[in-house]
Amino acid sequence: MKESAQVFDQIVNERRSVRVYDAEAEFDHDAVRRSIERAILAPNSSNMQLWEFYRIKSPEALKKVAWMCMNQKAAKTARELLVVVTRRDLWRKRQQVLLKEIEKVYKDKEGKGGKRAIGYYKSLIPKYYFSDPLDIWGIIKKMIYFFVGLRRPMVRHGNRADIRISVHKSAALAAQNFMMSMKAEGYDTCPMEGMDAKRIKNFLGLPRKAEINMVIGCGPGAEEGIYSERFRIPNEEVVFEV
Ligand SMILES: Cc1cc2nc3c(=O)[nH]c(=O)nc-3n(C[C@H](O)[C@H](O)[C@H](O)COP(=O)(O)O)c2cc1C
Repeated sequence: MKESAQVFDQIVNERRSVRVYDAEAEFDHDAVRRSIERAILAPNSSNMQLWEFYRIKSPEALKKVAWMCMNQKAAKTARELLVVVTRRDLWRKRQQVLLKEIEKVYKDKEGKGGKRAIGYYKSLIPKYYFSDPLDIWGIIKKMIYFFVGLRRPMVRHGNRADIRISVHKSAALAAQNFMMSMKAEGYDTCPMEGMDAKRIKNFLGLPRKAEINMVIGCGPGAEEGIYSERFRIPNEEVVFEV
């Protein structure tokens, strides 16, 4: 096994959801900054980066958000809370930035690669991300996909639920990068969906279409922070070779 794989293996095995943090141990807040930078390098759908990361650091804010996390110990004792947010509403803004970036990358806009990339972001992205209040466009897309899909393979996602799933997938990948990085930095984390997303959204002043993906408690784990032995369903029940 390569040395890098050994290091990775160790990080994966040592990462646990830690529910209590040590109030006395030192904590380098810069590790959180570095870990967010690594989180942002996660793969994400069409590189649209429809995510945001809010660091809850001040004692007052920590107290409030921990309360919104149902006062779970993993939140109450955390040195920082990271709120991972999805922003499907920002698709137009990202589209514009990406189109500018493509122009830089493909000097020859008329070349095959440039034309394809520009077409993708100019024409396909709006068709995918546009959403009307009743999601009628989503229903129309689903019907088109159904009929086209009768004859050939077809990407079938496109209604509002699909878009929401898509942005949450990407955000969760970033969250996992963050947690792995924090472990590599020598700290612990606990992802939480047991929280009042509505209250947290209001607290952060987020718009309607923004959604809380998860809140991650982090800090130096206390010994009593791991509640039980790690358990996973046997591989034979979940891993298949086809
Ligand atoms: C999306 C998500 C939400 C979770 N929510 C909570 C939570 O609200 N509170 C909690 O204590 N743990 C939460 N967990 C942690 C899981 O319980 C934990 O990952 C699982 O039991 C496996 O343990 P391990 O992370 O130590 O391997 C969550 C994990 C994920 C991925």
